[in-house]
Amino acid sequence: MIVCLCQRVSDREIARHARNGMSFDEIQLELGVATQCGCCGQCAQDIVTQCHAEVAALRQEGLQVQEVDGQLQRSSAATALRA
Ligand code: FES
Repeated sequence: MIVCLCQRVSDREIARHARNGMSFDEIQLELGVATQCGCCGQCAQDIVTQCHAEVAALRQEGLQVQEVDGQLQRSSAATALRA
């Protein structure tokens, strides 16, 4: 779904960047989301907050997380060390 009509930025793009550890400000600079009319700002911020919470919860369970092709990949710390 397109979140930012002005810059044609989708929720998936925002989520991918957020899950890879970027802050809202960094995503704004990278994608240009919420830099014109600003109508998408709250929605984009909500997506970033939700993704950061999701990643934090998985890490709290001891899982390594990584965004690959739009999918959140999870692995145990032991598996990640072997790779
Ligand atoms: S809809 Fe995103 S800046 Fe206008």
